[in-house]
Amino acid sequence: MDESYQSLRPESGIIAMINTSPEANFARATKYDQVHFGVIRIVHECLYGHFVDPYRLLTQAGIRDGQQVLEVGCGPGFFTLPAAKIAGETGYVYALDINPAAVEHVRRKITRTGLGNVEARLADASETGLPSQSIDMVFLFGVMQAFKDVSKVLREMHRVLRTTGTLSIRSGVPADKLAQIVSADGLFAIRERTRGVSIFKKKDADGL
Ligand SMILES: C[S@@+](CC[C@H](N)C(=O)[O-])C[C@H]1O[C@@H](n2cnc3c(N)ncnc32)[C@H](O)[C@@H]1O
Repeated sequence: MDESYQSLRPESGIIAMINTSPEANFARATKYDQVHFGVIRIVHECLYGHFVDPYRLLTQAGIRDGQQVLEVGCGPGFFTLPAAKIAGETGYVYALDINPAAVEHVRRKITRTGLGNVEARLADASETGLPSQSIDMVFLFGVMQAFKDVSKVLREMHRVLRTTGTLSIRSGVPADKLAQIVSADGLFAIRERTRGVSIFKKKDADGL
């Protein structure tokens, strides 16, 4: 491991690793943000890859070449670069996270790969700052449980999605319960469920 990563509490065993290198820009990340991100990062970058194929899951979730894609809660970016590769040169991926440590990390990853069709943004899911009806596909993987106000987030996803847009969710919530939650306000309807991913279509003003 890079020597710029140091244990926060080496005397008690490793509980998290933070980047202390001078170029690390964690100026806006609190200690909590860094520790929270550090834990997620260890799990995602050391373990996740053994069990999860990001390309398979993203394809299952409906990402296609040429799409404008929004990833909400990108974390360490396990899905971000694969999403950008699938979206291709004519597509674009906005990877959004509320934690500055995650955003800085993903920005560095993007810079290293030189991909020009992806960016990481610091924003809350309920206020993305993206234009209305600008996105073809939103994916929320492993983040639903973190939202304080799910209805507010779903309203924002409905706003940014184009009429034909889809919302794909991967979460620990059972599929039936998830479908109930997401369709409760009449903004989305379940379109299909594949292994582990539920895909919702956007309803229009007439509820169709
Ligand atoms: C468990 S991680 C999942 C990361 C990634 N989606 C994956 O599945 O590999 C959840 C991420 O969502 C972010 N998050 C939580 N609440 C959020 C919100 N309201 N807006 C944007 N991001 C949020 C957290 O900071 C964290 O990085």
